[in-house]
Amino acid sequence: MNQIGIFYGSTTGNTRDVSQKLYEALGESQAEIHDIRETTGSEMAAYEKLIFSVSTWGVGDLQDDWEEFLPTLDTIDFTGKTVAIMGLGDQQNYPDNFVDCMQILAKKVAECGGRIVGETSTEGYVFSASKAVRNRQFLGLVIDEDNQANMTTARIQGWIEILKKAFQ
Ligand SMILES: Cc1cc2nc3c(=O)[nH]c(=O)nc-3n(C[C@H](O)[C@H](O)[C@H](O)COP(=O)(O)O)c2cc1C
Repeated sequence: MNQIGIFYGSTTGNTRDVSQKLYEALGESQAEIHDIRETTGSEMAAYEKLIFSVSTWGVGDLQDDWEEFLPTLDTIDFTGKTVAIMGLGDQQNYPDNFVDCMQILAKKVAECGGRIVGETSTEGYVFSASKAVRNRQFLGLVIDEDNQANMTTARIQGWIEILKKAFQ
């Protein structure tokens, strides 16, 4: 399948809404969007290019629906698949665990043979520690709807330019 599969898990709706914006910005003919709560392993396995959207809960934990889906990821062979991760978090209230959840998914994808793409700069965010930082970059797109919602549209646009190359 040539389209990009966007898979989101969202507790209070932020990740759902931002994923919808991303879907519209990519172009509806370029992508399909799925709530991870209603996704099967074979639906996900049909895509070669995937975007995982996830929010952080607890202290650096995965959003609940993604947590439930995690064992299903183990059943998918990600060899040849390219995965970009968008993570939501709150840098002001969780500065020591900012968007840590992204790393949990990235690690799992790598274990399953997939390739992570779509790293972004940490400039413009204020936090103390994040497991989502690798080689001084975020391992995907980071969105903070709690403190920087006004930057979300521009951040999505910038990421799409990165993804256009990364998904080639
Ligand atoms: C109880 C609670 C725990 C949270 N834990 C974290 C955290 O550890 N790190 C972080 O960056 N954000 C954390 N957040 C912020 C959420 O990830 C953020 O509000 C996100 O936009 C929620 O997205 P959702 O509505 O799609 O689930 C937490 C929020 C709440 C209410």
